[in-house]
Amino acid sequence: MKKIIVVLIAVWACGNAVFAQGIIPKPEKIVLKDGKFTLNGETKIVRATGAEKLNEAVVLLSGYLKGSCGMKLKVVKKTGANTIVLDLAVKDLGLGKEGYMLDVSAGGVKITANTKYGVLHGIQSLRQLVDASTEIPQMSVRDKPRYGWRGLMLDESRHFFGTGEVLKLLDRMAYYKLNRFHWHLTDAPGWRIEIKKYPKLTTVGAKGHHTDADAPARFYTQADIKKIVEYARVRGITVVPEIDMPGHAGAANRAYPEFSGGGSRRLPDFTFNPGKEATYAYLTDILTETAGLFPGRWLHYGGDEAHYGNAKWLTLPDVQARMKKSGYTTLLEIEHYFNRRMAGVISGLGKTTIGWDEVTESGIKPSQAIVMWWRHNKPEALDSALNKGFKVILCPRVPCYFDFVQHSSHKCGRRWKKKFGDLRGVHAFPEGLIDKYDKKAQAQIMGIQTCVWTEKIKEVKRLEFMTFPRLAALAEAAWTQKANKDYPDFQKRLKTHLKQYDKWGIYYFNPFDPTAVKEPIGP
Ligand code: ACM
Repeated sequence: MKKIIVVLIAVWACGNAVFAQGIIPKPEKIVLKDGKFTLNGETKIVRATGAEKLNEAVVLLSGYLKGSCGMKLKVVKKTGANTIVLDLAVKDLGLGKEGYMLDVSAGGVKITANTKYGVLHGIQSLRQLVDASTEIPQMSVRDKPRYGWRGLMLDESRHFFGTGEVLKLLDRMAYYKLNRFHWHLTDAPGWRIEIKKYPKLTTVGAKGHHTDADAPARFYTQADIKKIVEYARVRGITVVPEIDMPGHAGAANRAYPEFSGGGSRRLPDFTFNPGKEATYAYLTDILTETAGLFPGRWLHYGGDEAHYGNAKWLTLPDVQARMKKSGYTTLLEIEHYFNRRMAGVISGLGKTTIGWDEVTESGIKPSQAIVMWWRHNKPEALDSALNKGFKVILCPRVPCYFDFVQHSSHKCGRRWKKKFGDLRGVHAFPEGLIDKYDKKAQAQIMGIQTCVWTEKIKEVKRLEFMTFPRLAALAEAAWTQKANKDYPDFQKRLKTHLKQYDKWGIYYFNPFDPTAVKEPIGP
């Protein structure tokens, strides 16, 4: 009997240790203590005196706990036994803008940070612990992120998912302490953002999607966008809209052909016309309305792949006139002129431009723009952006594009010379890639982002399958210091998270049992 008890205690302690560290992304430091705190219906939430900035966080935590264990906890003013206290520290905790401390003792839980962002991250750690069990091991967590930019990009031009799905995705991003939602709202298949000054952008441009050019118009009204931006803000996430230009402009050009710069046979009306003054006025209006809807600091203006469909520029009189006036002899020069001019517009709106890595060579000032490095086959593009002094966000196709397959057995999705982004590769990123850069260049790297392109993702089921659990690995790659990353340990923690995905009803890929669910095949 004694032996059985000893074994049971050992199993409990072991399970407990794994579970206590079940937080993803892995925190900087966890000190596990003896004993536990049991959350129950009598537990109360306390917002510390003076920390009014945490009122929204209290509501969020209360909702999470209700969702997780069905308990509607009272919010009270006085600290005491059996409480969860949220507090803002006045003295600098040395944890930066997003760090936090989480203490679980016999009397309850205390989350302390210097900012509401830190408290929000502490809440997500607590939420993950409670999702696993209401019996929380006593511990002391001290945590802060490796990178300030931890992002997810969703392409809703190719296929449109709608407010409900976006809100779900935002909540799951928050669960993993991701803080930037990059929203690819315009491209050839459909224009998805209401611009009041140009109604045809949505009455005409929002019609169709990647697999059905005649599908009814789907887009976000300005009221939808406000709701989504607010939902994200409360969770500590900034929404970064992308209005792609001068290429990928097909949907806009269907609505307002007078600003089209033409395209190719395969990609008709792919570009805006960079020779017409009226194009600049039109795009300035669009960016001005867009900037007003998104309170964040950043506006993404694409800048990728213009060469796919800009050959018509050579035949347009206004483009030719502009080139002649400026002494340009190549299409690249007029593309760079366009990029510089529109970056100036964005600066004038009080925002920082973000562009795909093609914009690096445009002559834009590094103080004016941030570069997203995506062409993993062009490491020289990353070198150049860093050498020029740009801040850079890393989202190379492999391993950061989640439209690439994640397992060798998968039939649908991209590969690049047989390479794809499996869970281990995502988790290991960006080690290897960034080691060669000196300290100054490494400090220019703002963070990491996944891009979920949706040419082959039409249904929610497939969106989930391609995103989970890679999102957990991406979050750990972006948050956890290199020295703390340990793939087998991540795998152990992930097993607890897969159970949570089951509870949420997520259709995820199971890396421990690759045939557990059928691969949903996209269009
Ligand atoms: C891209 O994938 N064209 C940024």
